[in-house]
Amino acid sequence: SNKQLGSKQLNGKQLSASQIAILGAGAIGQLIYHQLANAKQQPHVGLSFIGRKIQSKVVPFRFTRLDGQVVTSNAKVIGLEDYAKELANTALLIVSVKAHQVKPALAAVLPHLPGNTHILLLHNGMGPHLEVQPYLAGRGLSLGTTSQGALRLDKYHVKQTGSGLTQLGPFIAPQLDDNIRERLLSSIDQSTWYADILPLLWQKLAINVAINPLTAIHDCPNGELAKPQYRNAINNAVSELIKVAAADGLTLDKALLIERVYQVIELTAQNFSSMHQDVYHQRQTEIDAINGFVLKRAMVHHIPAPVNQSLAQQITQLEAKYTR
Ligand code: PAF
Repeated sequence: SNKQLGSKQLNGKQLSASQIAILGAGAIGQLIYHQLANAKQQPHVGLSFIGRKIQSKVVPFRFTRLDGQVVTSNAKVIGLEDYAKELANTALLIVSVKAHQVKPALAAVLPHLPGNTHILLLHNGMGPHLEVQPYLAGRGLSLGTTSQGALRLDKYHVKQTGSGLTQLGPFIAPQLDDNIRERLLSSIDQSTWYADILPLLWQKLAINVAINPLTAIHDCPNGELAKPQYRNAINNAVSELIKVAAADGLTLDKALLIERVYQVIELTAQNFSSMHQDVYHQRQTEIDAINGFVLKRAMVHHIPAPVNQSLAQQITQLEAKYTR
Protein backbone atom coordinates (compact mmCIF):
# COMPACT_ATOMS: atom_id res chain seq x y z
CA SER A 1 0.00 0.00 0.00
CA ASN A 2 2.98 2.23 0.59
CA LYS A 3 3.94 1.62 -2.98
CA GLN A 4 0.50 2.62 -4.20
CA LEU A 5 0.60 5.79 -2.17
CA GLY A 6 3.99 6.51 -3.62
CA SER A 7 2.83 6.09 -7.18
CA LYS A 8 -0.27 8.20 -6.55
CA GLN A 9 1.90 10.96 -5.25
CA LEU A 10 4.13 10.55 -8.24
CA ASN A 11 1.15 10.72 -10.59
CA GLY A 12 -0.11 13.77 -8.78
CA LYS A 13 3.26 15.37 -9.22
CA GLN A 14 3.43 14.48 -12.88
CA LEU A 15 0.02 16.02 -13.43
CA SER A 16 0.72 19.26 -11.66
CA ALA A 17 4.20 19.55 -13.12
CA SER A 18 2.59 20.36 -16.46
CA GLN A 19 2.38 24.03 -15.54
CA ILE A 20 3.68 26.69 -17.83
CA ALA A 21 4.65 30.10 -16.48
CA ILE A 22 5.30 33.12 -18.66
CA LEU A 23 7.78 35.78 -17.61
CA GLY A 24 7.15 38.96 -19.57
CA ALA A 25 3.63 40.12 -20.47
CA GLY A 26 4.66 42.19 -23.46
CA ALA A 27 3.14 41.79 -26.91
CA ILE A 28 4.79 38.44 -27.63
CA GLY A 29 4.29 37.02 -24.13
CA GLN A 30 0.58 37.83 -24.27
CA LEU A 31 0.25 36.48 -27.81
CA ILE A 32 1.81 33.15 -26.80
CA TYR A 33 -0.39 33.07 -23.70
CA HIS A 34 -3.56 33.42 -25.79
CA GLN A 35 -2.42 30.80 -28.26
CA LEU A 36 -1.77 28.35 -25.41
CA ALA A 37 -4.93 29.31 -23.52
CA ASN A 38 -7.20 29.00 -26.54
CA ALA A 39 -5.73 25.79 -27.89
CA LYS A 40 -8.34 23.07 -28.28
CA GLN A 41 -6.66 20.61 -25.96
CA GLN A 42 -6.21 21.46 -22.30
CA PRO A 43 -7.37 25.06 -22.38
CA HIS A 44 -6.19 27.19 -19.46
CA VAL A 45 -4.49 24.29 -17.71
CA GLY A 46 -1.67 25.48 -15.52
CA LEU A 47 -0.87 28.64 -17.42
CA SER A 48 0.05 31.86 -15.68
CA PHE A 49 2.13 34.99 -15.84
CA ILE A 50 4.80 35.82 -13.31
CA GLY A 51 4.17 39.32 -12.00
CA ARG A 52 6.40 41.73 -10.11
CA LYS A 53 3.85 43.04 -7.60
CA ILE A 54 3.52 41.57 -4.11
CA GLN A 55 0.05 40.12 -4.52
CA SER A 56 -1.33 37.71 -7.10
CA LYS A 57 -4.33 38.74 -9.14
CA VAL A 58 -6.56 37.42 -11.88
CA VAL A 59 -6.63 39.67 -14.92
CA PRO A 60 -8.92 39.55 -17.96
CA PHE A 61 -6.47 39.53 -20.87
CA ARG A 62 -8.01 40.57 -24.17
CA PHE A 63 -6.87 39.29 -27.53
CA THR A 64 -7.83 40.59 -30.96
CA ARG A 65 -7.33 37.71 -33.34
CA LEU A 66 -6.20 38.02 -36.94
CA ASP A 67 -9.84 37.71 -38.05
CA GLY A 68 -10.76 40.67 -35.82
CA GLN A 69 -12.63 38.65 -33.21
CA VAL A 70 -11.90 39.68 -29.63
CA VAL A 71 -11.61 36.98 -26.98
CA THR A 72 -10.98 37.39 -23.27
CA SER A 73 -9.15 34.93 -21.00
CA ASN A 74 -8.72 35.30 -17.28
CA ALA A 75 -5.10 34.74 -16.38
CA LYS A 76 -3.46 34.47 -13.03
CA VAL A 77 -0.59 36.89 -12.56
CA ILE A 78 1.48 35.43 -9.74
CA GLY A 79 2.64 37.94 -7.14
CA LEU A 80 5.93 37.78 -5.21
CA GLU A 81 4.27 36.49 -2.03
CA ASP A 82 2.95 33.45 -3.93
CA TYR A 83 6.07 32.59 -5.95
CA ALA A 84 7.05 29.70 -3.65
CA LYS A 85 3.60 28.11 -3.70
CA GLU A 86 2.55 28.82 -7.29
CA LEU A 87 5.83 28.15 -9.07
CA ALA A 88 6.60 24.86 -7.36
CA ASN A 89 5.14 22.80 -10.23
CA THR A 90 6.47 24.76 -13.16
CA ALA A 91 7.58 22.43 -15.93
CA LEU A 92 8.33 25.22 -18.37
CA LEU A 93 9.20 28.87 -17.95
CA ILE A 94 8.74 30.93 -21.11
CA VAL A 95 10.88 34.05 -20.89
CA SER A 96 9.42 36.69 -23.20
CA VAL A 97 11.04 39.83 -21.84
CA LYS A 98 13.41 41.87 -24.00
CA ALA A 99 16.95 40.58 -24.44
CA HIS A 100 18.53 43.04 -22.00
CA GLN A 101 16.00 42.08 -19.30
CA VAL A 102 16.49 38.31 -19.60
CA LYS A 103 19.36 37.92 -17.15
CA PRO A 104 18.00 40.11 -14.31
CA ALA A 105 14.40 38.86 -14.75
CA LEU A 106 15.51 35.23 -14.73
CA ALA A 107 17.83 35.74 -11.74
CA ALA A 108 14.87 37.03 -9.69
CA VAL A 109 12.69 34.04 -10.50
CA LEU A 110 15.08 31.07 -10.73
CA PRO A 111 15.45 30.58 -6.95
CA HIS A 112 11.67 29.93 -6.77
CA LEU A 113 11.60 27.38 -9.57
CA PRO A 114 12.08 23.64 -9.13
CA GLY A 115 15.42 22.25 -10.22
CA ASN A 116 13.88 20.61 -13.28
CA THR A 117 11.98 23.57 -14.72
CA HIS A 118 12.87 23.94 -18.36
CA ILE A 119 13.61 27.47 -19.63
CA LEU A 120 12.61 28.76 -23.06
CA LEU A 121 13.98 32.12 -24.21
CA LEU A 122 11.89 33.93 -26.78
CA HIS A 123 13.17 37.38 -27.67
CA ASN A 124 14.55 39.39 -30.56
CA GLY A 125 18.31 39.32 -30.92
CA MET A 126 20.94 37.01 -29.46
CA GLY A 127 23.27 36.92 -26.49
CA PRO A 128 21.24 35.99 -23.39
CA HIS A 129 21.61 32.28 -24.21
CA LEU A 130 25.32 32.72 -23.39
CA GLU A 131 24.77 35.03 -20.39
CA VAL A 132 22.31 32.80 -18.50
CA GLN A 133 24.17 29.51 -18.80
CA PRO A 134 26.05 29.88 -15.49
CA TYR A 135 22.75 30.35 -13.62
CA LEU A 136 20.79 27.37 -14.92
CA ALA A 137 22.05 24.93 -12.27
CA GLY A 138 21.33 21.84 -14.36
CA ARG A 139 18.07 23.06 -15.88
CA GLY A 140 17.49 22.56 -19.58
CA LEU A 141 17.40 25.52 -21.94
CA SER A 142 15.60 25.90 -25.25
CA LEU A 143 15.65 28.89 -27.57
CA GLY A 144 13.17 30.26 -30.00
CA THR A 145 12.28 33.05 -32.32
CA THR A 146 8.96 34.15 -33.71
CA SER A 147 8.06 36.38 -36.61
CA GLN A 148 4.42 36.59 -35.63
CA GLY A 149 3.39 40.21 -35.36
CA ALA A 150 1.67 41.49 -32.23
CA LEU A 151 0.79 44.95 -31.04
CA ARG A 152 -0.14 45.92 -27.51
CA LEU A 153 -3.29 48.03 -27.66
CA ASP A 154 -3.50 48.32 -23.91
CA LYS A 155 -1.65 46.90 -20.91
CA TYR A 156 -3.71 43.69 -21.09
CA HIS A 157 -4.90 43.76 -24.68
CA VAL A 158 -2.85 42.47 -27.57
CA LYS A 159 -3.76 42.40 -31.20
CA GLN A 160 -2.19 39.90 -33.57
CA THR A 161 -1.02 41.91 -36.58
CA GLY A 162 0.56 39.19 -38.67
CA SER A 163 1.10 35.48 -38.91
CA GLY A 164 4.61 34.11 -39.18
CA LEU A 165 6.89 31.24 -38.35
CA THR A 166 7.87 30.34 -34.81
CA GLN A 167 11.04 28.30 -34.61
CA LEU A 168 11.99 26.54 -31.39
CA GLY A 169 14.67 24.09 -30.40
CA PRO A 170 16.90 22.73 -27.66
CA PHE A 171 20.15 24.41 -26.65
CA ILE A 172 21.19 22.88 -23.32
CA ALA A 173 20.12 19.43 -22.07
CA PRO A 174 17.97 18.06 -20.48
CA GLN A 175 15.42 18.40 -23.25
CA LEU A 176 11.97 19.85 -22.76
CA ASP A 177 9.34 17.28 -21.74
CA ASP A 178 7.64 15.72 -24.83
CA ASN A 179 4.10 16.57 -23.70
CA ILE A 180 4.90 20.19 -23.05
CA ARG A 181 6.72 20.46 -26.37
CA GLU A 182 3.72 18.99 -28.21
CA ARG A 183 1.46 21.41 -26.39
CA LEU A 184 3.56 24.35 -27.58
CA LEU A 185 3.68 23.11 -31.15
CA SER A 186 -0.04 22.38 -31.37
CA SER A 187 -0.99 25.77 -29.86
CA ILE A 188 1.37 28.22 -31.56
CA ASP A 189 0.50 28.74 -35.23
CA GLN A 190 3.17 27.65 -37.71
CA SER A 191 5.57 26.56 -35.00
CA THR A 192 8.26 23.96 -35.60
CA TRP A 193 10.80 22.24 -33.37
CA TYR A 194 14.34 22.11 -34.77
CA ALA A 195 17.13 19.94 -33.40
CA ASP A 196 19.58 22.62 -34.53
CA ILE A 197 18.11 25.99 -33.59
CA LEU A 198 21.21 28.24 -33.65
CA PRO A 199 21.44 28.68 -37.46
CA LEU A 200 17.80 29.79 -37.44
CA LEU A 201 18.47 32.33 -34.72
CA TRP A 202 21.38 33.72 -36.75
CA GLN A 203 19.08 33.90 -39.79
CA LYS A 204 16.55 35.90 -37.83
CA LEU A 205 19.38 38.05 -36.48
CA ALA A 206 20.42 38.84 -40.07
CA ILE A 207 16.91 40.17 -40.71
CA ASN A 208 17.04 42.26 -37.56
CA VAL A 209 20.57 43.70 -38.04
CA ALA A 210 19.44 45.08 -41.38
CA ILE A 211 15.86 46.18 -40.83
CA ASN A 212 15.69 47.33 -37.22
CA PRO A 213 18.41 50.00 -36.97
CA LEU A 214 17.87 51.37 -40.48
CA THR A 215 14.12 51.89 -39.96
CA ALA A 216 14.80 53.54 -36.59
CA ILE A 217 17.57 55.81 -37.92
CA HIS A 218 15.63 56.83 -41.04
CA ASP A 219 12.28 56.97 -39.24
CA CYS A 220 10.46 54.86 -41.80
CA PRO A 221 8.29 51.76 -42.14
CA ASN A 222 10.01 48.51 -43.13
CA GLY A 223 8.90 48.78 -46.78
CA GLU A 224 11.01 51.92 -47.32
CA LEU A 225 14.17 49.77 -47.10
CA ALA A 226 13.41 48.23 -50.50
CA LYS A 227 14.77 51.46 -52.00
CA PRO A 228 18.22 51.23 -53.65
CA GLN A 229 19.85 53.76 -51.30
CA TYR A 230 19.70 51.17 -48.50
CA ARG A 231 21.11 48.30 -50.54
CA ASN A 232 24.75 48.76 -49.49
CA ALA A 233 24.03 49.11 -45.80
CA ILE A 234 21.82 45.99 -45.80
CA ASN A 235 24.35 44.03 -47.84
CA ASN A 236 27.31 45.02 -45.66
CA ALA A 237 25.56 44.51 -42.33
CA VAL A 238 24.56 40.99 -43.38
CA SER A 239 28.01 40.20 -44.87
CA GLU A 240 29.69 41.13 -41.60
CA LEU A 241 27.25 38.94 -39.67
CA ILE A 242 28.03 36.01 -41.96
CA LYS A 243 31.79 36.37 -41.32
CA VAL A 244 31.23 36.51 -37.58
CA ALA A 245 28.89 33.49 -37.64
CA ALA A 246 31.51 31.59 -39.64
CA ALA A 247 34.10 32.34 -36.96
CA ASP A 248 31.53 31.03 -34.43
CA GLY A 249 31.36 27.79 -36.44
CA LEU A 250 28.18 28.41 -38.45
CA THR A 251 28.02 28.53 -42.22
CA LEU A 252 25.28 30.81 -43.51
CA ASP A 253 24.23 31.31 -47.11
CA LYS A 254 24.53 34.96 -48.08
CA ALA A 255 22.21 34.93 -51.08
CA LEU A 256 19.55 33.19 -49.02
CA LEU A 257 19.86 35.62 -46.11
CA ILE A 258 19.66 38.70 -48.33
CA GLU A 259 16.64 37.19 -50.04
CA ARG A 260 14.99 36.61 -46.63
CA VAL A 261 15.69 40.20 -45.59
CA TYR A 262 13.95 41.53 -48.71
CA GLN A 263 11.08 39.07 -48.26
CA VAL A 264 10.48 40.39 -44.75
CA ILE A 265 10.77 44.00 -45.98
CA GLU A 266 8.05 43.22 -48.50
CA LEU A 267 5.83 41.14 -46.20
CA THR A 268 5.95 43.72 -43.42
CA ALA A 269 6.17 46.80 -45.67
CA GLN A 270 3.54 48.79 -43.74
CA ASN A 271 4.87 47.83 -40.29
CA PHE A 272 7.17 49.83 -38.12
CA SER A 273 9.92 47.60 -36.76
CA SER A 274 10.19 46.98 -33.03
CA MET A 275 13.29 49.22 -32.87
CA HIS A 276 11.51 52.01 -34.69
CA GLN A 277 8.71 51.71 -32.12
CA ASP A 278 11.19 51.65 -29.23
CA VAL A 279 12.93 54.83 -30.42
CA TYR A 280 9.58 56.49 -31.15
CA HIS A 281 8.38 55.76 -27.60
CA GLN A 282 11.83 56.56 -26.14
CA ARG A 283 12.31 53.05 -24.76
CA GLN A 284 15.61 51.23 -24.48
CA THR A 285 16.14 49.40 -27.77
CA GLU A 286 17.40 45.85 -28.35
CA ILE A 287 20.49 47.13 -30.17
CA ASP A 288 22.91 45.35 -27.79
CA ALA A 289 21.38 41.98 -28.71
CA ILE A 290 21.14 42.76 -32.43
CA ASN A 291 24.00 44.69 -34.09
CA GLY A 292 25.68 44.81 -30.67
CA PHE A 293 25.77 40.99 -30.53
CA VAL A 294 27.42 40.84 -33.96
CA LEU A 295 29.97 43.38 -32.71
CA LYS A 296 30.68 41.45 -29.50
CA ARG A 297 31.31 38.21 -31.39
CA ALA A 298 33.36 40.14 -33.99
CA MET A 299 35.58 41.47 -31.22
CA VAL A 300 36.04 37.98 -29.75
CA HIS A 301 37.26 36.80 -33.15
CA HIS A 302 39.15 40.02 -34.06
CA ILE A 303 37.00 40.57 -37.13
CA PRO A 304 36.17 44.12 -38.22
CA ALA A 305 32.45 44.91 -38.38
CA PRO A 306 32.34 48.65 -39.21
CA VAL A 307 28.80 48.76 -40.58
CA ASN A 308 27.26 47.03 -37.57
CA GLN A 309 29.39 49.27 -35.36
CA SER A 310 28.15 52.40 -37.07
CA LEU A 311 24.50 51.29 -36.95
CA ALA A 312 24.83 50.44 -33.26
CA GLN A 313 26.48 53.81 -32.56
CA GLN A 314 23.73 55.73 -34.34
CA ILE A 315 21.07 53.94 -32.30
CA THR A 316 22.97 54.60 -29.07
CA GLN A 317 23.09 58.27 -30.03
CA LEU A 318 19.33 58.32 -30.61
CA GLU A 319 18.81 56.70 -27.18
CA ALA A 320 21.05 59.32 -25.58
CA LYS A 321 18.73 62.05 -26.87
CA TYR A 322 15.69 60.66 -25.06
CA THR A 323 14.07 63.35 -22.95
CA ARG A 324 12.55 61.06 -20.34
O1 PAF B 1 11.87 43.42 -34.79
C1 PAF B 1 10.99 43.43 -35.66
O2 PAF B 1 10.30 44.41 -35.87
C2 PAF B 1 10.75 42.17 -36.46
O3 PAF B 1 11.62 41.20 -35.98
C3 PAF B 1 10.92 42.33 -37.97
C4 PAF B 1 10.96 40.97 -38.59
C5 PAF B 1 12.15 43.11 -38.32
C6 PAF B 1 9.70 42.97 -38.59
O4 PAF B 1 9.49 44.28 -38.22
